[in-house]
Amino acid sequence: RKAVSIPGLIALREKGEKITMLTAYDASFASLMDRCGVEILLIGDSLGMVCQGHDSTLPVTLQDVAYHTAAVARGNQKALVVADMPFGSYATPEAAFNNAVQLVQAGAQMVKLEGGTWLLPTIKFLTERAIPVCAHLGLTPQSVHQLGGYKVQGKTDASASLLKAEALAVQEAGATLLVLEAIPASLGKEVTDSLHIPTIGIGAGVDCSGQVLVMHDLLGVFPGRKARFVKNFMEGQTSIDAAVLAYVAAVKDKSFPALEHSF
Ligand code: KIV
Ligand code: NA
Repeated sequence: RKAVSIPGLIALREKGEKITMLTAYDASFASLMDRCGVEILLIGDSLGMVCQGHDSTLPVTLQDVAYHTAAVARGNQKALVVADMPFGSYATPEAAFNNAVQLVQAGAQMVKLEGGTWLLPTIKFLTERAIPVCAHLGLTPQSVHQLGGYKVQGKTDASASLLKAEALAVQEAGATLLVLEAIPASLGKEVTDSLHIPTIGIGAGVDCSGQVLVMHDLLGVFPGRKARFVKNFMEGQTSIDAAVLAYVAAVKDKSFPALEHSF
């Protein structure tokens, strides 16, 4: 296949083909996912939980993400590599730029940041300086203490309106991808329909432009509590390749996420 690019993702969205994204943290799994046709590999700060055993993403450092990004980039050939900016690494536009450069130099083609209105100057600052940005709205795990736990977001009219406005604003500021996490499926659809950039849902319903899952959840190896939006794609499969291919097929044919995985 051709290398996945941002215009390529926008083209997929325009022709109505769903986009597949998975987290990856090492070269071997990156290579496998790339071979299976996954369009985007995310070095998520979920690595703090699934690789390091912490109970949140907050202890993850820039060096941790850079280390895993370099490994993923070595294993990957065609997928788009997106790296999470960890907690505390993008408090100001300048800090965000300096830190994002480290991730780009490690092999990231785009960086992901959690937040809305307060991040607009940072998104503008990075994208003007040639660092593509994926925004992340809804349940933003780095804000777990402020949110009071890992809870579905956008359930009230006021919070849904704010999220819709923030989605438009991050697009306007220059973001070219938007992750929507743990929001009602109806809101996921409304936001997706209002934007020209692709949305990638995790617990945001089937009408997002694409879907993302944490690799360990897809394989059923994460020992912690299972979120509603998680599906173990190893069930009924006899290899990891087959599980990843089943995920890709289910996202493409819109059978995942089903209602049971949505809010
Ligand atoms: O860190 C992560 O794995 C993520 C995805 C769940 C979107 O941010
Ligand atoms: Na993350």
